[in-house]
Amino acid sequence: MLSKKQARNFFLGGTLVTFLVFIGLTIFSLSSANDQTNEENLTAEVVRGKELWEKNNCMGCHSLLGEGAYYAPELTKVLDRRGAGYVKAALMSPVPWQPSGRKMVAYNMSDQEANDMVAFFEWIGEIDLNGFERIVSPLAKRKAANN
Ligand code: HEC
Repeated sequence: MLSKKQARNFFLGGTLVTFLVFIGLTIFSLSSANDQTNEENLTAEVVRGKELWEKNNCMGCHSLLGEGAYYAPELTKVLDRRGAGYVKAALMSPVPWQPSGRKMVAYNMSDQEANDMVAFFEWIGEIDLNGFERIVSPLAKRKAANN
């Protein structure tokens, strides 16, 4: 059994150590060497693409970095998966894009708008995800193995 004094020291010491660890990890996370956002790669096209993303409510159906809706495919790595030509075809289509059955809005984008969207996806795809994109749930692995 700890005496009252030992218990107090244990509490204060433990609190101090975890507080210091917390402060240290916070400084580590925010240090510029750990910047994962590729801010230096933001171009005018990427910014216009992001504006198109917001204006057209793409997030109402899709997700980026896991954020958004789950009606339509995750798009963080869409260029790796599909390539720029496929992505542009989906965005420039004058009729709802639906090769797998579910319908997308027919945006009928211009070539420049579609290129801006591609630039945005390129930028998003280059963000360092700490391996998030490689962590696959056991269920998804089983499904992939069966296909
Ligand atoms: C109403 C829901 C909806 C909205 C809003 C929407 N999409 Fe889609 N999108 C879909 C669906 C559903 C698919 C899959 C179609 C299929 O493969 O049959 C798709 C497919 C795509 C694909 C191809 C992805 C792949 O892996 O095959 C891209 C790229 C894409 N959408 C981009 C966008 C962008 C950019 C926006 C906003 C400008 C947007 N979408 C808005 C529903 C939507």
